[in-house]
Amino acid sequence: MNSGLDVFEAIKKRRSIRAYADEKVSEKDVERLIEAARCAPSAGNIQPWEFVIVKDMETKRKLSDAALNQTFIEKAPVVIVVCADLNRSSRGYGSRGENLYSIQDTAAATENILLAAQELGLATCWVGAFHEKEVAKAVKAPRNLRPVAIVPVGHPAERPAASPKRSVNEIVHYETF
Ligand SMILES: Cc1cc2nc3c(=O)[nH]c(=O)nc-3n(C[C@H](O)[C@H](O)[C@H](O)COP(=O)(O)O)c2cc1C
Repeated sequence: MNSGLDVFEAIKKRRSIRAYADEKVSEKDVERLIEAARCAPSAGNIQPWEFVIVKDMETKRKLSDAALNQTFIEKAPVVIVVCADLNRSSRGYGSRGENLYSIQDTAAATENILLAAQELGLATCWVGAFHEKEVAKAVKAPRNLRPVAIVPVGHPAERPAASPKRSVNEIVHYETF
């Protein structure tokens, strides 16, 4: 546990998984995912995130529909909708807070969820392609909350190979471009 390698292993082994076994996700595991999410860094420690945990089939269906019929979403036992509180971010940092930090902060929280899920042997997929208004309506989000990610969570029913990633040489620039 304290080897310092767990986080690298979780990062390396994580995959977007879009097929889930017919098996519940425990309350305790959901709590641990949220615990990981709330530990994420945020601009000025404003923590503009809110999480909606959805298990209700009808709501999950609405989310799948809103996400351009990505039906794997409704097949997950638990779906977490990550929202950004734009008021909170803009109160702290004006338009930069509202337009940039709110997204970065909630993205960091989302990644923490994915990595914690990996550590727990759970399957997730970050879903970003959706009609925001429809998602907001499905979860009855107040006006200042912008849905930024949908994360279905389940037990894996597929083991996809790693997606190709750009090489270090291609993406790193020393000192300047
Ligand atoms: C901002 C964002 C939006 C995404 N939206 C979707 C989506 O709508 N549907 C989907 O199936 N995957 C979505 N993904 C997952 C990506 O397709 C996936 O991360 C990518 O193909 C790399 O695969 P990997 O996650 O297994 O490394 C999204 C990922 C991110 C970060």
